[in-house]
Amino acid sequence: MGHRANGNITGACLLAVALSLSTTSATATDPLSAAGRWEGASGGGTPTPPMGWNSWNAFQTEVDEDKVMGAARILVDSGLAKLGYDYVNLDDGWWFKRRLVDGRMQIRTNIFPSAATGGPNETSFKPFTGKLHAMGLKAGIYTDIGRNACSQAYDLHSPNLPQGTTAEREVGLDGHVKQDIDLYFKDWGFDYIKIDACGLADFVPGSELVKQQNYRALAPLIERNSINRSDIDAVRGRYQEVATALKSARPDNDYVLSICNWGMANVRSWGKDIGNLWRTSSDITASWTSMLHNFDSAAKRPLYAGPGHWNDPDILHIGHEAFDDAHLVEARSHFTLWTMINAPLLISYDLRKSPQSLLDVLGNADLVRINQDKAGNQAVVAYDSDDVQFFVKTLGNGERKAVALFNRGATAATVTLLAKHLKLSETSPIVLRDLWSKQSLTFSGEQSFTLAPHETRVFEATGERRLRDGVYLSEMPGAINIAVDGTQQPQLDPTIHRMIDPWSNTRSSGSRPQYAGWGGAQADATPFSQTLQIAGQTFESGIGVLSNSRIQVRNDADHALLMASVGVDDSTENVKQTARFYVYGDGRLLATSAPMTFGVKAVQLAVNIKGKRVIELVVRGAKSNNERPVVATWGDARLVHSPLKSSLAL
Ligand code: GLA
Repeated sequence: MGHRANGNITGACLLAVALSLSTTSATATDPLSAAGRWEGASGGGTPTPPMGWNSWNAFQTEVDEDKVMGAARILVDSGLAKLGYDYVNLDDGWWFKRRLVDGRMQIRTNIFPSAATGGPNETSFKPFTGKLHAMGLKAGIYTDIGRNACSQAYDLHSPNLPQGTTAEREVGLDGHVKQDIDLYFKDWGFDYIKIDACGLADFVPGSELVKQQNYRALAPLIERNSINRSDIDAVRGRYQEVATALKSARPDNDYVLSICNWGMANVRSWGKDIGNLWRTSSDITASWTSMLHNFDSAAKRPLYAGPGHWNDPDILHIGHEAFDDAHLVEARSHFTLWTMINAPLLISYDLRKSPQSLLDVLGNADLVRINQDKAGNQAVVAYDSDDVQFFVKTLGNGERKAVALFNRGATAATVTLLAKHLKLSETSPIVLRDLWSKQSLTFSGEQSFTLAPHETRVFEATGERRLRDGVYLSEMPGAINIAVDGTQQPQLDPTIHRMIDPWSNTRSSGSRPQYAGWGGAQADATPFSQTLQIAGQTFESGIGVLSNSRIQVRNDADHALLMASVGVDDSTENVKQTARFYVYGDGRLLATSAPMTFGVKAVQLAVNIKGKRVIELVVRGAKSNNERPVVATWGDARLVHSPLKSSLAL
């Protein structure tokens, strides 16, 4: 197996290779063929993560107009709305029935009196959304992608379940996508929709639920925790139909589509192409372990999120139990973590009874600014363990960073932050500004901290960038689109922190661990969360991916070169097959490596990308589906302005 010797290859020489390859380049239908244009998300109106309030964790189905308007008033009066908390989102419980004569949805007017707009059968949310809009807020509604809703499976004692015949109680979108979306967005004036998926999972033919409640059964398209028994294409197709209806109802893109299928059916890889946010896990509960679990489900997916499309570890639980005003350390940690990973900041607490201390947590303007930073770079793990994790989020063009030091454990932890965790120079001073205490400190090289149990210290950091003249790709996840991640057989996530299922409690065999899994592209780690390493050489920076993948990178700052050390990662299970690395600029093949295998030293690429807007990084492996994909590493992958100045500042 031939391979290039380790050494620099110039752009010119790579171009020559490229030209000789042009006859064998991919066909248009090949998903690995360079698109030559940005394929990342464009629909919907969430250039930064959505912020606001949702009724569910506060009231479940016992929601009503007074409670919602109370929350809205406090958002405005407390100044939270000015900070950006402007969505007021209804969750489950608002619906009464579907009117059979024309299929129009009816609102439960005993809890939403302003919706009683006409005769006994005429209801509209227009007055309700009108009030919110007049307050400078936006309005969100909730539905299900199937025929029936989650409350119809899990809240059977609720006074606010849909009523009527089997057909009248089919309040979900199934068979009514266009009609309902037009009603909610054009007639009623909503701006945001959360679409749950119990209708595709829980109304199983022959089940007790279906028999007792007289529902129409649907063979599940989602089987919780069995990705192999979920119909990924069908689930995706249904949400795609909604996205299409939304685009036509709101051609100006002023809508938000929130996909709520709890991380199932491999939504982590396709959610970004269809929705503006997608849940990555089951429902958060007011316990520390649940918060950890939900955080973990999104924390290692920065490459899948960016402006307009966000990982969603669920609404906040601040205000309740483990995160109430007697647990401000935990409440601050929960909030800090959500801000760092660009999660939506949706308060879900009865704000009418909120002590000032909790409003102060939610109102930390510095952290809101970190979350809302326009570059949309989700934080990347810089140090990982079960006890303590460090997360670093690149702000703007990279001139500033936010760093969170998170103590997951129940005992105090002394930790040392290194300049290199921040990808900042080890010899120049680094200023850290604490975003809770607002105090600043300066250090060089390293700095120790003692973290209280469950505490997260969070700082804004400024210093000299380690890479003086450029940016590592792992520092700019918001400008990366994982077009194809190479997973052949989607796997569930590995789970470490497992919590009591809120629905079945301990009436089951438990929440079993999953040791392996995922395989999607990662920043500064392999697709299975290992350190990046090629033939014994480790890389602190880089992109880890599988073979047969295509990654898009926006070159907005007009960098001149893409540099990387590429090769097969030492963690690969497939140690036999080859992988070949290709770099495209605006659709043109610019460079390629020789075929690489396990154990072969990294090849250094230096590719001229001047003037190219969309860079595509492709790894081609063997076509066979019988082998596991090769783990491929783009080590130290970076964009730089000039080859001479690209040296590291150590
Ligand atoms: C599901 C969702 C929750 C909430 C409830 C409402 O469990 O995941 O966020 O919307 O349904 O019934």
